Amino acid sequence: MTHILLLAFAVFLLGEVKEVVAEPALPFVPQVQGLDFPGALQIMRVSGICPQNRKTRKAPGRYLKKKNPIPPTPENLAKGKRLYNQDAKPTACKLCHGARGNGNGSLARRLDPPPRNFACAEVMKNLPEGQLFWIIKNGSRGTAMPAHKSTLKSEEIWQLILFIKKFLRA
Ligand code: HEC
Repeated sequence: MTHILLLAFAVFLLGEVKEVVAEPALPFVPQVQGLDFPGALQIMRVSGICPQNRKTRKAPGRYLKKKNPIPPTPENLAKGKRLYNQDAKPTACKLCHGARGNGNGSLARRLDPPPRNFACAEVMKNLPEGQLFWIIKNGSRGTAMPAHKSTLKSEEIWQLILFIKKFLRA
């Protein structure tokens, strides 16, 4: 009788063990642009996707030729930084593009396409300043990137561009 009870218990235990083993070993990791290895999401949050799959419209030729007319003085950089972090309307750039410019701001999580990663040299080195100016001024249609033509003066946009470029070396 005891033997039968022990045997039944052993079978019961085996069943339990099987269930534990059958559980997936790794937590669910969403697949983001090919980054599907465990831990990829963590790395992505820290450094941003680089290079991003960029489909942004190209600025008209007369914009692409524009050069930043203001010098990178500490004062202009400080103004760009203030706009980026808090003053720009409708929404501070930092909330989408992130405190480190890597595109991972607090509002970025559900945005598709994601905010540009300014720390990614592979993409940023190919973008003329006039392209950045045009998008900041007019926004990127069909994306979360807002237009700033009624809230930022040209000089302020150029100050922002001076500041954004610093993320490449940060
Ligand atoms: C609500 C979120 C949001 C805010 C706020 C925001 N951006 Fe963006 N930004 C985006 C997204 C999304 C993109 C990607 C657009 C695309 O893929 O076409 C983008 C793209 C850009 C680009 C890349 C343009 C290109 O040609 O690739 C620049 C430059 C930029 N933003 C600057 C800024 C600046 C400066 C501010 C603040 C004045 C700002 N953004 C505020 C979401 C935001």
